[in-house]
Amino acid sequence: DDSEGEAEEYLFKVVIIGDSAVGKSNLLSRYARNEFNLHSKATIGVEFQTQSMDIDGKEVKAQIWDTAGQRGAFGALLVYDISRRSTFDNVGRWLQELNTHSDTTVAKMLVGNKCDLDNIREVPVEEGKALAEAEGLFFMETSALDATNVKTAFEIVIKEIY
Ligand code: GTP
Ligand code: MG
Repeated sequence: DDSEGEAEEYLFKVVIIGDSAVGKSNLLSRYARNEFNLHSKATIGVEFQTQSMDIDGKEVKAQIWDTAGQRGAFGALLVYDISRRSTFDNVGRWLQELNTHSDTTVAKMLVGNKCDLDNIREVPVEEGKALAEAEGLFFMETSALDATNVKTAFEIVIKEIY
């Protein structure tokens, strides 16, 4: 009942997972605070940021967890680094882990981060796309450094949950 003028609220948990140093923390800080750190330290423990967006005139909040437990997540960004093939090779393992800790309705996006490093690319866009298609994931290449597609990637996942 909305009769007291209270806005309806939605809060979803989204997790960011993937190999070390692929840029998970910087994707989150770029999205939540528009910040990038060239010398960020490895994340130890649990950190999250809450970010709201407007969907159909409703305020939707996403609680975005950096390297945290995947239990209870409604959405996930599975990140690899386009300039490091090994991080792409490990995507299957991350996916398995995600699937064992959450049900199949989780909105998942495969994210090829660091697309600004195109000159030292080790994973072609087509390969990312093909894997995403085969596994039923959304796909996007991003750069936390120059902000390419960062907002879009998060918002596609959050919209899909909503
Ligand atoms: P862990 O916390 O150890 O799991 O790492 P992480 O995935 O959170 O990576 P983090 O965000 O700390 O970034 C690791 C390194 O990659 C840092 O030196 C960042 O500056 C750099 N980096 C992150 N995103 C980008 C990007 O889009 N482009 C480039 N060129 N560098 C990036
Ligand atoms: Mg981190």
